[in-house]
Order: sequence, then structure tokens, then C-alpha cells
Amino acid sequence: MKKTFIRTKNVKQFVSLMDELQKVPPNIPKMTLVYGEHGLGKSQTIQWWADKNDSVYVRASQGMTSRWLLSEIVEELGEEAYWHLHDNFEIIENILREHSKVIIVDEIDYLIDKNIIETLRDLHDKTACPVVLVGMGAADKKLARYPHLMDRIYKKLKFEKFNSDDIKEILTELTDLKFKDDAIEYLATRTNQFRQLVKLINRIEKLMKTNQIEELDEYTMKGLLNARPDINANIKAMQTIG
Ligand SMILES: Nc1ncnc2c1ncn2[C@@H]1O[C@H](COP(=O)(O)OP(=O)(O)O)[C@@H](O)[C@H]1O
Ligand SMILES: [Mg+2]
Repeated sequence: MKKTFIRTKNVKQFVSLMDELQKVPPNIPKMTLVYGEHGLGKSQTIQWWADKNDSVYVRASQGMTSRWLLSEIVEELGEEAYWHLHDNFEIIENILREHSKVIIVDEIDYLIDKNIIETLRDLHDKTACPVVLVGMGAADKKLARYPHLMDRIYKKLKFEKFNSDDIKEILTELTDLKFKDDAIEYLATRTNQFRQLVKLINRIEKLMKTNQIEELDEYTMKGLLNARPDINANIKAMQTIG
């Protein structure tokens, strides 16, 4: 499998949203929500973008408090965090007012239930920096509990599941294996998520090598994916005898 970052439809939409967000006039709220089911490439996309752009990237986690969140942001900005929340807020505010950056927070679901998300709204209001909230499929519904935060959402972007065209593009970029169209259609019925697809390609690559298959059609793929390894071995043994 090739290690490439693929510009899927979701990635392209994210990039144009970020371009747009950075051009929004100062007096317009600049919070954005990126959401969608797990395994669609949200985290990978924001990390890839954050690496290449002037931004602060933090990932929320279980049990995170406002103080913890702000400490992480301070450290991301290259400063040493203080104990008090207020001090950390001030450091962040000073740095970001001087030099605006896009603040990206992944896994915001951990911050919604405990109102910590409000800290990000505060940060947005005080620094006028764009804030990108990234969460799971139901994040937009969960955020609806915070009307004054929703008021500040400039746009929402939902990461969509892949269709067979997307899968075709991903396969071309991720692997040198050859797939017939019916095999791709079949694969699309088995998965519409990146993570599953990556795992499946890995498995198929190994199986094709073992079974010396050059090009996969639907029938062979079904056999490869559904047959247990011992059954495969039996088939081979029978073929050799036959
Ligand atoms: N654009 C991409 N190009 C290549 N691989 C990707 C891409 N997006 C996701 N992946 C693969 O899919 C996996 C799951 O993606 P991830 O970003 O963790 O999904 P999410 O955050 O939506 O749950 C990643 O570990 C990576 O292997
Ligand atoms: Mg993720």
C-alpha cells in the first residue's frame, strides 16, 4: 500500500472552506463546525492542513477540563503553561491578537457535554481568530444546545461517506493493484469509510500476493474476502492435486 494523502471530495471541500474562512471580514464570527461519522478522514485532513498552515491544533480527550484545554493551546503556541486558567487565557489572547492563527480542535464531543466548548467561544470572541470545531456525526445536534455558540458558526461542513467513484479514486492512489469495475462496486457495498477501506486494501494486497492474482473481479474478490484462510488453502491443495 502506498502512503499517500488523498484529496478526496471531503478534503477539497475542507480546503475551500478554510480558504474562505481566512478571508472573512474581522467583524463576522468565524467559528466552523466540521463533523461526520468516524473513519471518514476528518482527523487526517485537519492534521494535514494544520501542518501546512499557520494554525494551532489540539485534540480534546476524555476528562478534559477548560484549564487542561487552555494549557494545551499555550504549549502548542510554544509557551510554558501556567497553573491558573486565567493566566493561560491571557497568554493565548496576547499571542493571537498580535498574530492571528486558525485554532483547530479535534474530538470536540468530549468538550460539549461539560460546557468546555464555551471556553472556545470565549477564545474566539477575544482573539477574533477562526476556530474550527471537529466532531462526530451528532456534533451539530449536540451543539444546538448552545444557541450563542451556534450564532457564531460561519459554516458547517459534513464529511460524507464515499460512493463507488470516490472509492475508485482512492484505490488508484493507494495501491498498484488492478480492480475491475464490478470489484469496485462490490467493495463499495462492503465499506464507505476510509479506515475500513485501508484495512481491506491491506488484506486484499496480501491475499492477492499469496494467491498470485493479477487483477481482481467481483467473483474473485468475494472469494478472497469471504473464504476463511483454511478454506483457501484447501481450494489450492485441491487445485494442485486436480
Ligand atoms: N485523505 C486521506 N488520504 C489517505 N488516507 C486517509 C485519508 N483520510 C483518512 N485516511 C485513512 O483513514 C484513517 C481514518 O481516518 P481519520 O482521519 O482518523 O477519520 P476520522 O477522524 O473521520 O474518524 C486514517 O488513519 C488513514 O489511514
Ligand atoms: Mg477523528
